[in-house]
Amino acid sequence: MSDEGRGQWGSRISFVLAAAGSAVGLGNLWKFPYITGMNGGGAFVLIYLVCILLVGLPIMIGEVLLGRMSRSSVVGTFSKLSDGPTPWSGIGWIGVAAGVVILSYYSVVAGWSLHYVWLAISGGLAEQTPEALGQLFGETYADPAINLRYHTLFMIFTALIVVGGIQKGVERAARVMMPLLLVMLAAMLAYATTLDGFGRAFDFVFGFHTDALTGAGVLEALGHSFFTLSLGMGAMLTYGSYLSRQDDVVAASLATTFLDTLVALMACLVLFPITFSAGMEPAGGPGLVFVNMPIAFSGLPGGQVWAVLFFLLLFFAALTSAISLLEVAAAYFIDERGWSRKKAVAVTATTIFALGIPSALSGGDSPIFGAEIHWIGERNWFDSFDYLASNWMLPLGGLGIAAFAAWRLGDRARHVAFAEGSRLGAIPAIYLAWLQLLRYLVPVAIVLVMLNAIGVLKKLGLGE
Ligand code: TRP
Repeated sequence: MSDEGRGQWGSRISFVLAAAGSAVGLGNLWKFPYITGMNGGGAFVLIYLVCILLVGLPIMIGEVLLGRMSRSSVVGTFSKLSDGPTPWSGIGWIGVAAGVVILSYYSVVAGWSLHYVWLAISGGLAEQTPEALGQLFGETYADPAINLRYHTLFMIFTALIVVGGIQKGVERAARVMMPLLLVMLAAMLAYATTLDGFGRAFDFVFGFHTDALTGAGVLEALGHSFFTLSLGMGAMLTYGSYLSRQDDVVAASLATTFLDTLVALMACLVLFPITFSAGMEPAGGPGLVFVNMPIAFSGLPGGQVWAVLFFLLLFFAALTSAISLLEVAAAYFIDERGWSRKKAVAVTATTIFALGIPSALSGGDSPIFGAEIHWIGERNWFDSFDYLASNWMLPLGGLGIAAFAAWRLGDRARHVAFAEGSRLGAIPAIYLAWLQLLRYLVPVAIVLVMLNAIGVLKKLGLGE
């Protein structure tokens, strides 16, 4: 298929917006603030920033580079760059599978944001007591009808955007939603600075508090730097495959990483002042967004408007991430099997939707998939999928991508491709730093995350 037939970004900024759209998601607005809260702020944030810079950014550049070089889906990339069939393609298969697995449960959480937009609009969140809001979230979490309805709706939205193609679907959605998201977040930040709790929140996030930081916290920061940047399954690789040769891989990766980090920090500076001002604790856990935020809003002037804005923001962030997850699987069928985009999206989205049904039922008392039914260890279906993807598939994929980019490709090919179109990439020291980080530091870091996942570090008295 010609490159034009595959699709290509309409402009340079489109890639950055779409890639940032993929990176900025529930990971930034929901998970990062709550793990920061649980790990005591300050020092955890610093470690996270170091992980982003030394591990996340090099892999990001590697993924985008591989995509731009191969101009293929994540499965085709490895054989194309190896000039024939190769076992490395297994990495691509893991990537497609990870995308399918992640989206199946990501859509359920994203569905809650949609439900909360509706609740906020219809007044269901206003003037509620903390107990009532806690109960509301508990009911949302457990109710099969709500979960199935919004999982369905969310998958339909996602499929409708991806079926539009790169320029008319993915790119257009990102160009509308990402600036809106940044503006909404900036407005909320401006408001948060006026609250009494802002000073305390600022100190909590940027002050150097080492007391609550543990070895497990360091590994959590490392693992999260992967998830938040959408690395390890070829999402960035696939988006990179729609770049042209003139595009600057290094600068685009830097911009994407910067935006993702900016949003994560802004989210903390919005959530914590509100949390502190409402007299609540930062270590609220996973309920921070769905329980604490509405509690805080309902006590504030104009709170209902803020609540609608906030959950819309969450919904937009989740949607631009979901389309990247679906695009990875769809691109495989389009590139490798020659399917039309329509057919590829219909088949992949339906499969993912079906696979997500057990996750949608995981909070309730469904006899097959309910909260009491254990799949992997003590985990219900939803948690098992999250565990599989975050602890196994993404680290394995990231390891493979790093190894392929830094060891397998010929030195010359790498050097030429790296610098092509990139002023920064042409600086030898930058290229060398990238190569050495990918060759040595990144594999060690990933292996640590995986050892932690199987509990080896715990036995040694180090990890979680
Ligand atoms: N990065 C997104 C978030 O922070 C989630 C996500 C989208 C993702 N695409 C991905 C995670 C690919 C891993 C791999 O919410």
